[in-house]
Amino acid sequence: MIPGDFQTLKPTRRQLIKHGILGVITLGVLVVAALALTFVISAWLGRPVVFATEGPDQPIAFPHTTHVEDLGMDCTFCHRNVTEGAAATIPSAGLCMTCHDVVGDDLEEIEKLRDMHEEGRPIDWVRVHRVPDHVHFVHEAHIRFFSERDGVEETAVCATCHGDVGSMEKVEQVRDLKMGDCVNCHRDNGAPTDCTACHY
Ligand code: HEC
Ligand code: HEC
Ligand code: HEC
Ligand code: HEC
Ligand code: HEC
Repeated sequence: MIPGDFQTLKPTRRQLIKHGILGVITLGVLVVAALALTFVISAWLGRPVVFATEGPDQPIAFPHTTHVEDLGMDCTFCHRNVTEGAAATIPSAGLCMTCHDVVGDDLEEIEKLRDMHEEGRPIDWVRVHRVPDHVHFVHEAHIRFFSERDGVEETAVCATCHGDVGSMEKVEQVRDLKMGDCVNCHRDNGAPTDCTACHY
């Protein structure tokens, strides 16, 4: 073949316009399909996938930032059961009132807290992390294992699964914590991977 012998066909103006329009339509269809897909996945997982930048609104806008970063409170001051049993637990309003009896006059969220406490109404915190009923998760085993292995404080372990909660205005889930995630970490750390370890 002689170099330069080969010539590409120049598209006509009509062809250019036709393909241009087709291209735009295809792009549009793809964008709509992608949006629909993320919506379906979000609905399926029960939480936003792409558009979420923060966690759900809570009945009282409790800021971890103020309590953890500013006041230096320990996670276990409030999540008392986390080093002892399965659930970390959220404290009752009574514990909050040890300070908010006197701290926070005239702040709207604190007035809400005081009203609920006075009326004996429980605060219906919206759950952020939740494994299905057929899954068995125990905080205590994890906290003990990693704090002993790494020689760190118990509260330093929380970030492994929950991220830097102390810097969150609203708690959001940052780690998958689905079966694959649990099993991978178990395998890497010599923890049990048989089905009955996590399923009854
Ligand atoms: C002053 C009490 C207090 C302290 C201290 C505190 N928390 Fe919380 N935490 C709460 C309350 C109240 C909620 C429920 C409302 C919310 O989700 O913001 C909560 C929610 C959470 C949740 C989400 C629970 C769910 O529904 O899945 C995580 C995770 C969490 N805290 C981790 C931490 C970690 C880690 C620390 C330490 C860095 C910490 N907390 C310190 C009171 C506290
Ligand atoms: C060790 C004392 C202490 C405990 C216990 C405590 N808080 Fe606080 N909290 C504070 C202080 C101090 C502030 C800052 C108040 C201010 O900005 O004037 C604060 C701020 C807040 C605010 C923000 C108010 C605003 O509008 O700026 C909310 C909401 C709140 N706390 C809720 C809670 C809840 C719910 C609990 C229990 C889970 C709790 N606190 C436990 C000391 C405490
Ligand atoms: C190995 C991963 C892992 C670590 C480490 C971990 N968590 Fe969790 N956490 C979870 C999972 C999974 C759930 C959901 C559990 C469920 O639905 O029963 C959860 C739920 C929670 C909840 C809400 C429900 C409950 O259990 O009461 C709080 C609060 C919480 N964690 C706090 C903490 C704190 C504080 C620490 C550190 C002391 C910590 N977690 C360490 C995985 C972890
Ligand atoms: C960051 C790593 C990591 C993640 C993520 C993790 N685990 Fe674990 N898990 C461990 C380790 C390590 C142990 C072993 C603790 C010990 O030896 O006492 C363990 C122990 C357990 C145990 C106790 C097993 C027994 O019989 O002693 C259960 C149950 C469990 N994990 C369930 C889960 C579930 C469910 C998830 C996901 C929602 C999960 N884990 C996520 C590291 C992890
Ligand atoms: C380390 C913990 C762990 C082990 C080991 C484990 N699972 Fe799971 N499994 C989970 C978690 C967590 C979920 C829930 C995932 C979610 O949030 O949807 C789950 C969900 C499931 C489901 C429901 C379908 C789904 O994907 O949600 C089935 C079925 C299942 N596991 C079977 C098994 C079998 C079979 C084994 C043994 C080969 C096994 N699991 C071992 C943690 C574990």
